[in-house]
Amino acid sequence: MEPTTTSDPAPAHTGDQSREQWSSKIGFVLAAAGSAIGLGNIWRFPYVTGENGGAAFVIVYLACIALICLPYLLAELALGRHSQKNPVGAIRAVAGRTPWVIVGGLGILTGLFILSYYGVIAGWTFGYIFKNVASPDTTFTEFIATPWLVLPLFVLFLGFTAAIVQGGVEDGIERAAKVLMPILLVLMLLVIVRGVTLEGASAGLSFYLNPDFSKIGSEAIVAALGQAFFSLSLGMGAMVTYGSYLPEEENLLSAGGWVALFDTSIALLAGLMIFPAVFALDADPQAGPTLVFDVLPGLFQQMPLGTVVGMLFFLLLSVAALTSTVSLMEVVVSYCMDEQQWSRSKSVAVVTGAAFVFGFPAALSQGISPALGDMSWLVGEGGVLGATDFLGIMDKIWGDISLALGALLLCVFVGWVWSTADAAMEIRSGEGAFAPGTARLWGAFVRYVCPLVILVVVLNAFDLFSYFGLFD
Ligand code: PHE
Repeated sequence: MEPTTTSDPAPAHTGDQSREQWSSKIGFVLAAAGSAIGLGNIWRFPYVTGENGGAAFVIVYLACIALICLPYLLAELALGRHSQKNPVGAIRAVAGRTPWVIVGGLGILTGLFILSYYGVIAGWTFGYIFKNVASPDTTFTEFIATPWLVLPLFVLFLGFTAAIVQGGVEDGIERAAKVLMPILLVLMLLVIVRGVTLEGASAGLSFYLNPDFSKIGSEAIVAALGQAFFSLSLGMGAMVTYGSYLPEEENLLSAGGWVALFDTSIALLAGLMIFPAVFALDADPQAGPTLVFDVLPGLFQQMPLGTVVGMLFFLLLSVAALTSTVSLMEVVVSYCMDEQQWSRSKSVAVVTGAAFVFGFPAALSQGISPALGDMSWLVGEGGVLGATDFLGIMDKIWGDISLALGALLLCVFVGWVWSTADAAMEIRSGEGAFAPGTARLWGAFVRYVCPLVILVVVLNAFDLFSYFGLFD
């Protein structure tokens, strides 16, 4: 069915009257941007950009956000607001008891598992606020291999997350986001000013801002799209859930646009924060996942006021991670409340416990337990997409494969099962315009362009291209 050009109101909503809601559009935008902005932007984006050649990668990344992620983000938001349900309930509300509900279930599981290992990394960032004062000579490798540090930090971080989610949608999540997000922005600007005024910073600026397209191959494109999905919290229903708390009169198009804009700006700023400093102090931009933890503290030590800048930096990384873990937990909690009819407190307690159970081995896998650090006894020498440690394997399975697969299936669901006509009506039902021409274009993207492009990413995640000898 093609999107209609009438301006009918959206079909009746299926949600109940007592469902919690954001108190304002800015509250939603900050909470959703808080979900999107996280370790993905500040820790992962710079090192993936560094590994993939800098400025040219950034341009490909921006194209992925605008052409694929933004249309898909609108689809998730529309599904959530229309059904006023968690991802499982949302699919059931639209399509009844079909196997599609499994896609929602996959999203809930993905949320729980990402929360478990993401919480471990978030715990490290929290510990790093104090580490350079308390024990500057401890290396990153030693730090993450110290059980009495990483386990309490992980538990503490889960506790912060649980406390905010327990507060509920408006008094917990929205209020926390309104305070934490502006602090994050101010802290980043401070660190950027410090970095770009270092002598030698301009080499970093040119690495980051002057594109060299010879560095772009299919692998970089796939990495850019994967990073864009992870960064915008897409593919597991986080935006379905946050969209479900949006009142009917809000304009989805602009709400989604703002979220994408904030998320992208913060990722770009993170690059601006890191590359000038990396080059000014002669570090390696291709250091990989340790870029933030290993390289930056070394740099901070050499800066005037470095201790303070370093503490601020890890504080902001923790803040960003916290608003993301909150959204991961909220997806699972909303499922427990909607579908199991549990209270919020019971849901939060159970989900926190489950996240601890799965995060525990992830925390131990970074140098504490050899059996968890190298699981080739279970997954073979090649590991799962190259990862052999428990945390890395979880990240590949849930952060890469499952998000891409979930995005593909949800996109097909909205485009072909729910129909883009009804979805467009939901988007149009708020204030503001979603012109018929735009709606038609959006429909074509959700039905054809996005699924095809995401399919390429999924195939890549399963390594099927190299299996067939393509793109080597
Ligand atoms: N978007 C978050 C980040 O960039 C991670 C995340 C993924 C959060 C999926 C929720 C859902 O760190």
